[in-house]
Amino acid sequence: MSGQNIQWFPGHMAKTRRLIGESLKLVDAAAEIIDARIPVSSRNPELAGIVAHMPKLILLNKCDMADESVTKAWLEALSKEDTAVLPVDCRSGRGLNRFLPETRRLLASRLARYREKGMAGRSLRVMVVGIPNVGKSSFINRMAGTGKAKVANRPGVTRGNQWFTIGQGVELLDTPGVLWPKFDDPVVGERLAFTGAIKDTVVDIEALACDLLDVLKASYFVLLQNRYRLNDGDCELPSYALLEKIGMCRGMRIAGGEVDTERAAAMVLEEFRNCKIGRISLERP
Ligand code: G4P
Repeated sequence: MSGQNIQWFPGHMAKTRRLIGESLKLVDAAAEIIDARIPVSSRNPELAGIVAHMPKLILLNKCDMADESVTKAWLEALSKEDTAVLPVDCRSGRGLNRFLPETRRLLASRLARYREKGMAGRSLRVMVVGIPNVGKSSFINRMAGTGKAKVANRPGVTRGNQWFTIGQGVELLDTPGVLWPKFDDPVVGERLAFTGAIKDTVVDIEALACDLLDVLKASYFVLLQNRYRLNDGDCELPSYALLEKIGMCRGMRIAGGEVDTERAAAMVLEEFRNCKIGRISLERP
Protein backbone atom coordinates (compact mmCIF):
# COMPACT_ATOMS: atom_id res chain seq x y z
CA MET A 1 0.00 0.00 0.00
CA SER A 2 1.30 3.44 -0.87
CA GLY A 3 -0.05 4.87 2.34
CA GLN A 4 -1.40 7.94 0.57
CA ASN A 5 -3.72 9.44 3.09
CA ILE A 6 -6.85 10.25 1.17
CA GLN A 7 -8.65 13.11 2.82
CA TRP A 8 -11.92 13.73 1.13
CA PHE A 9 -14.91 15.53 2.47
CA PRO A 10 -14.47 17.44 5.66
CA GLY A 11 -16.71 16.87 8.68
CA HIS A 12 -20.17 18.44 8.63
CA MET A 13 -21.42 15.45 10.54
CA ALA A 14 -22.79 17.58 13.38
CA LYS A 15 -25.42 19.11 11.11
CA THR A 16 -26.34 15.77 9.53
CA ARG A 17 -26.51 14.14 12.94
CA ARG A 18 -28.97 16.78 14.07
CA LEU A 19 -31.10 16.59 10.89
CA ILE A 20 -31.25 12.81 10.98
CA GLY A 21 -31.99 12.84 14.71
CA GLU A 22 -34.95 15.22 14.17
CA SER A 23 -36.32 13.23 11.25
CA LEU A 24 -36.00 9.90 13.03
CA LYS A 25 -39.00 10.88 15.13
CA LEU A 26 -41.05 10.84 11.93
CA VAL A 27 -40.13 7.37 10.70
CA ASP A 28 -40.62 3.75 11.68
CA ALA A 29 -37.35 2.37 10.34
CA ALA A 30 -34.08 3.28 8.65
CA ALA A 31 -32.94 1.72 5.38
CA GLU A 32 -29.18 1.97 5.14
CA ILE A 33 -27.65 1.49 1.72
CA ILE A 34 -24.10 0.20 1.66
CA ASP A 35 -21.80 -1.06 -1.07
CA ALA A 36 -21.73 -4.87 -1.03
CA ARG A 37 -18.07 -4.80 -2.13
CA ILE A 38 -17.01 -2.71 0.87
CA PRO A 39 -19.72 -3.04 3.53
CA VAL A 40 -17.46 -1.63 6.25
CA SER A 41 -15.85 1.27 4.42
CA SER A 42 -19.09 2.42 2.79
CA ARG A 43 -20.82 2.90 6.15
CA ASN A 44 -20.74 6.05 8.15
CA PRO A 45 -19.46 4.82 11.49
CA GLU A 46 -21.54 7.30 13.46
CA LEU A 47 -24.77 6.14 11.90
CA ALA A 48 -25.00 2.92 13.90
CA GLY A 49 -25.21 4.99 17.08
CA ILE A 50 -27.72 7.44 15.61
CA VAL A 51 -30.16 4.73 14.52
CA ALA A 52 -29.34 2.30 17.33
CA HIS A 53 -32.91 2.03 18.56
CA MET A 54 -34.60 1.84 15.17
CA PRO A 55 -35.60 -1.25 13.22
CA LYS A 56 -33.20 -1.34 10.27
CA LEU A 57 -33.03 -2.59 6.72
CA ILE A 58 -29.54 -2.89 5.32
CA LEU A 59 -29.36 -2.95 1.54
CA LEU A 60 -26.17 -4.55 0.27
CA ASN A 61 -26.26 -2.63 -2.99
CA LYS A 62 -24.20 -3.17 -6.15
CA CYS A 63 -24.25 -6.87 -5.34
CA ASP A 64 -24.08 -7.48 -9.10
CA MET A 65 -20.42 -6.42 -8.82
CA ALA A 66 -19.60 -8.19 -5.55
CA ASP A 67 -18.42 -11.76 -4.98
CA GLU A 68 -21.61 -13.74 -4.44
CA SER A 69 -20.24 -16.01 -1.70
CA VAL A 70 -18.87 -13.04 0.25
CA THR A 71 -22.20 -11.21 -0.04
CA LYS A 72 -23.90 -14.29 1.38
CA ALA A 73 -21.51 -14.26 4.31
CA TRP A 74 -22.25 -10.56 4.93
CA LEU A 75 -25.95 -11.26 4.81
CA GLU A 76 -25.58 -13.78 7.61
CA ALA A 77 -23.19 -11.61 9.60
CA LEU A 78 -25.35 -8.48 9.51
CA SER A 79 -28.83 -9.99 9.97
CA LYS A 80 -30.28 -9.52 13.45
CA GLU A 81 -33.69 -9.54 15.03
CA ASP A 82 -34.15 -5.81 14.42
CA THR A 83 -32.16 -5.76 11.17
CA ALA A 84 -33.21 -7.21 7.82
CA VAL A 85 -30.48 -7.50 5.19
CA LEU A 86 -31.15 -7.61 1.45
CA PRO A 87 -28.64 -8.03 -1.36
CA VAL A 88 -29.80 -5.73 -4.15
CA ASP A 89 -28.81 -4.24 -7.47
CA CYS A 90 -30.47 -0.85 -7.70
CA ARG A 91 -29.26 -0.32 -11.25
CA SER A 92 -31.26 -3.25 -12.65
CA GLY A 93 -33.71 -3.45 -9.77
CA ARG A 94 -32.76 -7.03 -8.86
CA GLY A 95 -33.70 -7.97 -5.32
CA LEU A 96 -35.83 -4.87 -4.77
CA ASN A 97 -39.08 -6.83 -5.00
CA ARG A 98 -38.28 -8.06 -1.48
CA PHE A 99 -38.02 -4.58 0.00
CA LEU A 100 -41.73 -4.00 0.69
CA PRO A 101 -42.47 -7.49 2.08
CA GLU A 102 -39.32 -7.31 4.27
CA THR A 103 -40.29 -3.86 5.54
CA ARG A 104 -43.74 -5.09 6.48
CA ARG A 105 -42.29 -8.20 8.12
CA LEU A 106 -39.73 -6.19 10.09
CA LEU A 107 -42.40 -3.75 11.23
CA ALA A 108 -45.20 -6.26 11.81
CA SER A 109 -45.54 -5.39 15.50
CA ARG A 110 -45.73 -1.66 14.70
CA LEU A 111 -48.40 -2.31 12.10
CA ALA A 112 -50.34 -4.28 14.70
CA ARG A 113 -49.93 -1.39 17.17
CA TYR A 114 -51.21 1.14 14.64
CA ARG A 115 -54.23 -1.09 14.01
CA GLU A 116 -54.94 -1.37 17.76
CA LYS A 117 -54.83 2.41 18.02
CA GLY A 118 -57.34 2.73 15.17
CA MET A 119 -54.65 3.89 12.73
CA ALA A 120 -54.90 0.93 10.38
CA GLY A 121 -54.34 3.11 7.33
CA ARG A 122 -51.15 4.75 8.58
CA SER A 123 -48.23 4.34 6.21
CA LEU A 124 -44.94 2.85 7.29
CA ARG A 125 -42.24 5.48 6.92
CA VAL A 126 -38.66 4.57 6.20
CA MET A 127 -35.68 6.92 6.12
CA VAL A 128 -33.11 6.11 3.44
CA VAL A 129 -29.54 6.74 4.54
CA GLY A 130 -26.16 6.17 2.96
CA ILE A 131 -22.92 7.90 2.03
CA PRO A 132 -22.71 9.61 -1.40
CA ASN A 133 -22.43 7.34 -4.46
CA VAL A 134 -23.69 4.26 -2.72
CA GLY A 135 -26.87 4.22 -4.83
CA LYS A 136 -29.49 6.12 -2.82
CA SER A 137 -30.97 7.95 -5.83
CA SER A 138 -30.99 4.77 -7.87
CA PHE A 139 -32.83 3.03 -5.06
CA ILE A 140 -35.42 5.78 -4.60
CA ASN A 141 -35.95 6.14 -8.35
CA ARG A 142 -36.46 2.41 -8.72
CA MET A 143 -38.86 2.18 -5.80
CA ALA A 144 -40.79 5.37 -6.49
CA GLY A 145 -40.78 5.05 -10.27
CA THR A 146 -40.17 7.85 -12.68
CA GLY A 147 -43.08 9.85 -11.28
CA LYS A 148 -41.25 10.18 -7.96
CA ALA A 149 -44.66 10.72 -6.32
CA LYS A 150 -43.92 13.06 -3.48
CA VAL A 151 -46.02 12.92 -0.37
CA ALA A 152 -47.84 16.15 0.29
CA ASN A 153 -46.64 18.40 3.06
CA ARG A 154 -48.10 17.38 6.35
CA PRO A 155 -47.76 18.68 9.88
CA GLY A 156 -44.72 17.43 11.69
CA VAL A 157 -42.76 16.89 8.53
CA THR A 158 -39.62 18.97 8.56
CA ARG A 159 -39.64 21.43 5.69
CA GLY A 160 -37.29 20.49 2.93
CA ASN A 161 -37.52 16.79 3.63
CA GLN A 162 -38.15 14.70 0.55
CA TRP A 163 -40.85 12.06 0.84
CA PHE A 164 -41.74 9.43 -1.74
CA THR A 165 -44.67 7.03 -1.81
CA ILE A 166 -43.67 3.59 -3.01
CA GLY A 167 -46.84 1.54 -2.61
CA GLN A 168 -48.19 -1.04 -0.20
CA GLY A 169 -48.51 1.64 2.44
CA VAL A 170 -44.84 2.52 2.60
CA GLU A 171 -43.21 5.95 2.23
CA LEU A 172 -39.53 6.75 1.90
CA LEU A 173 -37.75 9.78 3.31
CA ASP A 174 -34.52 10.76 1.59
CA THR A 175 -31.54 11.37 3.92
CA PRO A 176 -31.75 14.84 5.36
CA GLY A 177 -28.25 16.28 5.05
CA VAL A 178 -25.23 14.54 3.64
CA LEU A 179 -23.96 11.49 5.40
CA TRP A 180 -20.27 11.79 4.77
CA PRO A 181 -18.10 8.73 4.88
CA LYS A 182 -15.53 9.05 7.59
CA PHE A 183 -12.09 7.78 7.03
CA ASP A 184 -9.42 8.72 9.40
CA ASP A 185 -8.31 5.23 8.52
CA PRO A 186 -6.44 5.52 5.18
CA VAL A 187 -7.49 1.98 4.23
CA VAL A 188 -11.13 3.09 4.22
CA GLY A 189 -10.32 6.08 1.99
CA GLU A 190 -8.39 3.85 -0.34
CA ARG A 191 -11.24 1.35 -0.70
CA LEU A 192 -13.68 4.16 -1.43
CA ALA A 193 -11.25 5.36 -4.08
CA PHE A 194 -10.94 1.86 -5.61
CA THR A 195 -14.70 1.74 -6.13
CA GLY A 196 -14.80 5.28 -7.52
CA ALA A 197 -16.77 6.73 -4.60
CA ILE A 198 -13.88 9.21 -4.33
CA LYS A 199 -12.99 10.79 -7.62
CA ASP A 200 -9.57 10.22 -9.15
CA THR A 201 -8.80 13.91 -9.36
CA VAL A 202 -7.88 13.81 -5.69
CA VAL A 203 -5.64 10.75 -5.82
CA ASP A 204 -2.53 9.50 -7.57
CA ILE A 205 -4.03 6.93 -9.90
CA GLU A 206 -0.85 4.95 -10.56
CA ALA A 207 -0.32 4.43 -6.85
CA LEU A 208 -4.00 3.64 -6.44
CA ALA A 209 -3.97 1.06 -9.25
CA CYS A 210 -0.84 -0.55 -7.75
CA ASP A 211 -2.57 -0.78 -4.38
CA LEU A 212 -5.62 -2.33 -6.03
CA LEU A 213 -3.41 -4.84 -7.86
CA ASP A 214 -1.82 -5.80 -4.53
CA VAL A 215 -5.25 -6.54 -3.10
CA LEU A 216 -6.46 -8.41 -6.19
CA LYS A 217 -3.22 -10.41 -6.42
CA ALA A 218 -3.82 -11.71 -2.92
CA SER A 219 -7.48 -12.70 -3.29
CA TYR A 220 -8.47 -12.79 -6.95
CA PHE A 221 -5.31 -13.52 -8.94
CA VAL A 222 -7.13 -15.97 -11.24
CA LEU A 223 -9.47 -13.19 -12.34
CA LEU A 224 -6.46 -10.96 -13.13
CA GLN A 225 -4.84 -13.81 -15.00
CA ASN A 226 -7.91 -14.38 -17.13
CA ARG A 227 -8.43 -10.73 -17.88
CA TYR A 228 -4.82 -9.79 -18.70
CA ARG A 229 -3.37 -13.11 -19.86
CA LEU A 230 -0.83 -13.33 -17.04
CA ASN A 231 1.37 -16.31 -16.16
CA ASP A 232 1.22 -18.09 -12.82
CA GLY A 233 4.59 -16.58 -11.90
CA ASP A 234 3.31 -13.02 -12.39
CA CYS A 235 1.65 -13.37 -9.02
CA GLU A 236 5.13 -12.79 -7.53
CA LEU A 237 5.74 -9.55 -9.42
CA PRO A 238 5.75 -6.31 -7.42
CA SER A 239 2.58 -4.39 -8.25
CA TYR A 240 4.27 -1.74 -10.41
CA ALA A 241 5.91 -4.42 -12.57
CA LEU A 242 2.53 -6.13 -12.79
CA LEU A 243 0.95 -2.87 -13.93
CA GLU A 244 3.66 -2.60 -16.63
CA LYS A 245 2.95 -6.14 -17.74
CA ILE A 246 -0.77 -5.42 -17.97
CA GLY A 247 -0.09 -2.25 -19.96
CA MET A 248 2.20 -4.21 -22.26
CA CYS A 249 -0.43 -6.90 -22.81
CA ARG A 250 -2.81 -4.15 -23.93
CA GLY A 251 -0.22 -2.52 -26.18
CA MET A 252 -0.08 0.67 -24.11
CA ARG A 253 3.28 2.11 -25.06
CA ILE A 254 4.63 5.60 -25.29
CA ALA A 255 7.41 6.88 -27.57
CA GLY A 256 10.60 4.98 -26.83
CA GLY A 257 8.73 1.75 -26.18
CA GLU A 258 8.09 2.27 -22.51
CA VAL A 259 4.77 1.19 -21.08
CA ASP A 260 2.28 3.99 -20.48
CA THR A 261 1.63 3.06 -16.87
CA GLU A 262 -0.69 5.98 -16.28
CA ARG A 263 -3.01 4.78 -19.02
CA ALA A 264 -2.71 1.23 -17.75
CA ALA A 265 -3.59 2.40 -14.23
CA ALA A 266 -6.68 4.25 -15.45
CA MET A 267 -7.72 1.15 -17.40
CA VAL A 268 -7.28 -1.24 -14.44
CA LEU A 269 -9.33 1.05 -12.21
CA GLU A 270 -12.00 1.51 -14.84
CA GLU A 271 -12.21 -2.23 -15.50
CA PHE A 272 -12.44 -2.98 -11.79
CA ARG A 273 -15.20 -0.40 -11.32
CA ASN A 274 -17.17 -1.71 -14.28
CA CYS A 275 -16.81 -5.27 -13.10
CA LYS A 276 -14.87 -6.30 -16.19
CA ILE A 277 -12.22 -8.08 -14.12
CA GLY A 278 -14.94 -10.01 -12.35
CA ARG A 279 -17.18 -9.89 -9.31
CA ILE A 280 -14.93 -8.82 -6.48
CA SER A 281 -15.47 -8.07 -2.80
CA LEU A 282 -12.80 -6.13 -0.95
CA GLU A 283 -14.08 -6.73 2.57
CA ARG A 284 -15.16 -9.92 4.29
CA PRO A 285 -17.01 -10.36 7.56
P1 G4P B 1 -26.17 8.28 -4.60
O1 G4P B 1 -27.56 8.80 -4.85
O2 G4P B 1 -26.11 7.49 -3.32
O3 G4P B 1 -25.10 9.31 -4.65
O4 G4P B 1 -25.84 7.22 -5.74
P2 G4P B 1 -26.45 7.02 -7.21
O5 G4P B 1 -27.81 6.41 -7.13
O6 G4P B 1 -26.31 8.28 -7.97
O7 G4P B 1 -25.46 5.91 -7.78
C1 G4P B 1 -24.07 6.14 -7.97
C2 G4P B 1 -23.59 5.29 -9.14
O8 G4P B 1 -23.72 3.91 -8.80
C3 G4P B 1 -24.38 5.47 -10.42
O9 G4P B 1 -23.49 5.25 -11.49
C4 G4P B 1 -25.37 4.33 -10.39
O10 G4P B 1 -25.84 3.95 -11.66
C5 G4P B 1 -24.49 3.24 -9.80
N1 G4P B 1 -25.27 2.19 -9.13
C6 G4P B 1 -26.21 2.36 -8.18
N2 G4P B 1 -26.68 1.16 -7.77
C7 G4P B 1 -26.01 0.23 -8.48
C8 G4P B 1 -26.03 -1.21 -8.49
O11 G4P B 1 -26.74 -1.89 -7.74
N3 G4P B 1 -25.17 -1.82 -9.37
C9 G4P B 1 -24.35 -1.14 -10.17
N4 G4P B 1 -23.56 -1.83 -10.99
N5 G4P B 1 -24.29 0.21 -10.18
C10 G4P B 1 -25.11 0.88 -9.35
P3 G4P B 1 -22.88 6.42 -12.35
O12 G4P B 1 -21.78 5.85 -13.13
O13 G4P B 1 -22.60 7.59 -11.46
O14 G4P B 1 -24.04 6.83 -13.25
P4 G4P B 1 -24.68 5.97 -14.46
O15 G4P B 1 -23.59 5.17 -15.07
O16 G4P B 1 -25.76 5.09 -13.89
O17 G4P B 1 -25.23 7.04 -15.33
